[in-house]
Parts: sequence; structure tokens; C-alpha cells
Amino acid sequence: MKKQIRLLVNSEEYDLQLEPNRLLLQALRDDIGLTGTKEGCSIGVCGACSVIIDGRVVSSCLTLAVACQGKHIETIEGLAKDGKLHPLQQAFIEYGGFQCGICTPGQIMAAKALLDENPKPTEDEVKEWMSGNLCRCTGYYKILESVMAVVNNKISPDFQFRKREQQARIQSLDVYKSVAKTE
Ligand code: FES
Ligand code: FES
Repeated sequence: MKKQIRLLVNSEEYDLQLEPNRLLLQALRDDIGLTGTKEGCSIGVCGACSVIIDGRVVSSCLTLAVACQGKHIETIEGLAKDGKLHPLQQAFIEYGGFQCGICTPGQIMAAKALLDENPKPTEDEVKEWMSGNLCRCTGYYKILESVMAVVNNKISPDFQFRKREQQARIQSLDVYKSVAKTE
């Protein structure tokens, strides 16, 4: 039988009617519509579904939604403020901390929980903390570099994602044109 529950996600309240065995991951993605949190292994191993609950990183694929009442849930959607990316989001773009992106929200939420607790971790501390967040694409170095860029305050103050993206596209088009000319 469904239960009436209220979840506090990114400082917004959501009233939901859920089965008692509904997972937080399902509630976030399918009932609330916050699809930024990703599903990887579904068994608590990969970290793709990581969210922060009351300051602690949690696998939402192993957490019952009903158990989260009265707690503050943070997801990737809550990080950007007033149209400005969170420094970790910016760093992952600037330093190439992702490829396919499936693991990225979980990586960023795990890193956020660490930096909230310890803003100046060493590389080894970051590696240790993030060891529960698997990535099949990047080889991890770029993820570490992205997190350390925030730790060491090396993200661009005037970063504009769209402008850079457009420049990269124009450059790749130029390369394409010059290759086409030589053929
Ligand atoms: S989907 Fe939750 S840990 Fe992999
Ligand atoms: S970026 Fe593809 S799994 Fe990490």
C-alpha cells in the first residue's frame, strides 16, 4: 500500500505517494523528475547514483525513499545557483573530467561532500574518498585533476562554457576544412 511522504530535495519539498519499497533513486528520477542522478550497477557498487543526505554521500539505489523523510537531500540539480555552475561542475568541464557522463553526477556529488567537510584535501585523500565512484571512460586522472583544480583554486574566474564550446567547434571545423582542402 502506498504511503504519503514528503521529501526535501535541494531545499524544495515534494509530496509523494510511494510504495514503502520505492528506492530513493526511483523517487528522484521517476516520481520527481530529477534525472541528473544516474543509475549504473543498481547494487551499491559504482557510485553513479550518489547523492548527499544530511551531508553524507549515499547510494540512492540502496536507500528507501521513505527513510529519507525529514532529511535534506542534495542532488546534482541543486548545485548550480543563479545560472552559475558550482566550481566542481565548472572544473569537470574545464579539465575534461568526464566523457560519457554517466558517472559524472555521482563523482561531483561525492567530491562536493568531501570538499564541504575538508576544503583542502590532498590528492591521496581525494583518491581515497572517490574510490567508491567508478568510471569506465576517463582513466580517473582527469577526474582527480578536476577536483584538485577546485581545491587549488585553479578554475577560470571568467569561464564561459558556451563560448568555449563554440570556439572548440569552430576550431574543429577549421581543421576539417584544411584536411578537406588537401584531399
Ligand atoms: S547505481 Fe547505485 S551504486 Fe551503482
Ligand atoms: S565518464 Fe563515462 S563512466 Fe565516467
